[in-house]
Amino acid sequence: MAHFMSFLIAFSILTFAPVCFCGNKARNCYLYPQFYDHSCPKAQKIVMSIVAKAVAKETRMAASLLRLHFHDCFVKGCDASILLDSSGSIISEKRSNPNRNSARGFEVLDEIKSALEKECPQTVSCADILALAARDSTVLTGGPSWEVPLGRRDSRGASLSGSNNNIPAPNNTFQTILTKFKLQGLDVVDLVALSGSHTIGNSRCTSFRQRLYNQSGNGQPDYTLDQSYAAQLRRRCPRSGGDQNLFFLDFVSPTKFDNIYYKNILASKGLLSSDQVLLTKNEASMELVKKYAKNNKLFFEQFAKSMIKMGNISPLTGSKGEIRKHCRKINK
Ligand code: HEM
Ligand SMILES: *[C@@H]1O[C@H](CO)[C@@H](O)[C@H](O)[C@H]1NC(C)=O
Ligand SMILES: *[C@@H]1O[C@H](CO)[C@@H](O)[C@H](O)[C@H]1NC(C)=O
Repeated sequence: MAHFMSFLIAFSILTFAPVCFCGNKARNCYLYPQFYDHSCPKAQKIVMSIVAKAVAKETRMAASLLRLHFHDCFVKGCDASILLDSSGSIISEKRSNPNRNSARGFEVLDEIKSALEKECPQTVSCADILALAARDSTVLTGGPSWEVPLGRRDSRGASLSGSNNNIPAPNNTFQTILTKFKLQGLDVVDLVALSGSHTIGNSRCTSFRQRLYNQSGNGQPDYTLDQSYAAQLRRRCPRSGGDQNLFFLDFVSPTKFDNIYYKNILASKGLLSSDQVLLTKNEASMELVKKYAKNNKLFFEQFAKSMIKMGNISPLTGSKGEIRKHCRKINK
């Protein structure tokens, strides 16, 4: 009887334990912020110090690192697939339409990884480094902070087609963009809050030129774009040429993480079509744009929540994937 009782207790613990902290390596496990507390207690400090150094050298790096986490998570989950270079059967996601001539910050990831390999070899995943660097970049530019759930492992492959298909394009319709978010388990609240990332960083001319030259399909100017702002943009984004010329996504406070992005949209001065359609094409998202424009605190709170949600997209845990030694290549 005593045996039977202890069997029952053990059985119920195994079956109903609400959270698995990876005692069983083959199981699916939840991410949690203390994941490296024992195995690499200095991990978070090391990431922050190298991100801080990189951002001090070039403020835009904060934006670039934040975006890398997004482009990673939307392709096969947050598994650092975006960091792999082409090699053998791997075709790098760095070649995809959203990433080519645009995704950057890879050297900073290399520097963080090499510092962490010295501190605690093969312990901290590149996928977790991306999640931490995204949070630190947000904090360093004046945005909210949050505890980053950890324990992701790194993929042994990449998906060029996933990168081309899953990441929204700046000229996608509102519906297409929302559908791409929903496919990742994210909703309209996440879409509007996470688009607030465009409060920092740059865009190339080629990403919004279409809006400047009556190319909306009806030969009409894009009336959702303030016409004097458009005229200003046309000076350095000509009909042809200048594809790589850079523009601030938030021309008012381009290096500060704040809610002015939403105020720009209300003034018809969202740079990308994908920014402006949040106001013009859907009731729910319009209300959210207005709400975040009015209330920075609400924006910050939701941004942190949505970043955690995005960071939870299909992580590799337990014994899936691996901890890469170099973020650019899989282990031998
Ligand atoms: C909602 C759909 C989205 C679209 C269509 C979109 C599109 C774009 C485009 C076209 C650029 C400029 C790229 C270039 O021309 O080089 C850009 C930049 C950026 N995006 Fe997004 N984005 C979206 C959502 C997000 C999300 C969810 C995040 C982060 C959570 C994000 C973070 C950024 C950042 C920080 C930059 C500036 C990067 C830099 O300066 O290096 N974006 N985005
Ligand atoms: C969106 O932009 C891409 C790349 O510039 C272009 O090939 C495509 O035709 C555009 N789509 C629409 C609907 O305008
Ligand atoms: C766009 O088309 C309108 C007429 O439909 C014209 O008045 C305007 O000058 C055009 N703008 C550009 C930049 O081509």
